[in-house]
Amino acid sequence: MKIGTIDIDRPVILAPMEDVTDRAFRQLCKRYGADIVYTEFISAEALRRGIEKSVRKLTADPVERPIAVQIFGNSVESMIEAAQIAEEYSPDYLDINFGCPTKKVAGKGAGAALLREPEKMAAIAAAVVGAVNIPVTAKTRIGWDRESINIIDVLHRLEDAGIQALAVHGRTRSEMYKGRADWEWIREVKAHARIPIIANGDIWSAEDAVAMYAHTGADGVMIGRGSIGNPFIFAQARHLLKTGTPMPPPGFRERIEAAIEHLKLSVCFKGEKYGTLEMRRHYATYLKGLPMVSRVRNKLVREEQWELVIEILRAYEVECEGYQREGKIPDYAEYLNDHSDKLVLNY
Ligand SMILES: Cc1cc2nc3c(=O)[nH]c(=O)nc-3n(C[C@H](O)[C@H](O)[C@H](O)COP(=O)(O)O)c2cc1C
Repeated sequence: MKIGTIDIDRPVILAPMEDVTDRAFRQLCKRYGADIVYTEFISAEALRRGIEKSVRKLTADPVERPIAVQIFGNSVESMIEAAQIAEEYSPDYLDINFGCPTKKVAGKGAGAALLREPEKMAAIAAAVVGAVNIPVTAKTRIGWDRESINIIDVLHRLEDAGIQALAVHGRTRSEMYKGRADWEWIREVKAHARIPIIANGDIWSAEDAVAMYAHTGADGVMIGRGSIGNPFIFAQARHLLKTGTPMPPPGFRERIEAAIEHLKLSVCFKGEKYGTLEMRRHYATYLKGLPMVSRVRNKLVREEQWELVIEILRAYEVECEGYQREGKIPDYAEYLNDHSDKLVLNY
């Protein structure tokens, strides 16, 4: 898949996720094999007004490359200005969010709302393409609702606007996160496309990533929720794509190690207080399915000092060694199929 100077064969990409794909999580996913990572979406209006919290989201480290910055907005003017501000941070490319279904974004005419105004969507895309010297891509859904699926029309408009790749989440805005993502529509988009298509929606395992490629013929696959608490999915998918054989699933030691790495990165970038606090929602997924986990989780989410969090995790690791000797550690694959605890937050 080619975007500007990036040229990666069948990349496995970390999806943009608000409150998830911060610097810490992006760097973690990179270490575990993500080919390309995206920032959380960033409000164009907030960038334009210099809101500190949003401007900070533009910061990334060289280890994260290739990286895309994603912006959203509802006016040509604010998107031009935001794109130029984002460009100063030298991301490898800029991505426009045309898929967010929430009230706070779509309710204000940005994100997925633009699926109902394809002319305005194309005008924003063309203006952003013209305003920066880096490649511009877009990410969207297949339509507003089942009665108005317009992704093929949207694809052609975005191609004409100069968009260099399109990520498609196989759901409509109305479907939010319900049901299964519609891979058939993604295949249809790929069949009509002149630009690279990145397929997204319900990739929960390396096998799903391979199946997504096979089903849609897409140029890239993008993983969101399936990577939360499970950064291993990137190396696993790449390995399966390359060799046709699965990698052994991570054991409890690797999973606890990943949680500790994530915590350290989080503290490094956000400081002890927020770094420790923001990690709290991730422990459930890192430790999912392990024996006697709720007791440990309760301790983890109360602890305020990160070193002590690590001590709790290390003590639990020792405890797990005992469970393993007793044959009480379940197979990872068993709980991978249960997605009920995945974060959807306010998105
Ligand atoms: C917590 C959360 C935050 C998200 N934030 C964004 C975002 O900032 N920008 C975006 O384009 N999509 C966002 N998404 C959508 C994902 O990028 C992705 O399209 C969606 O989750 C479907 O892929 P998946 O089934 O692999 O999770 C978010 C999804 C979740 C669950």
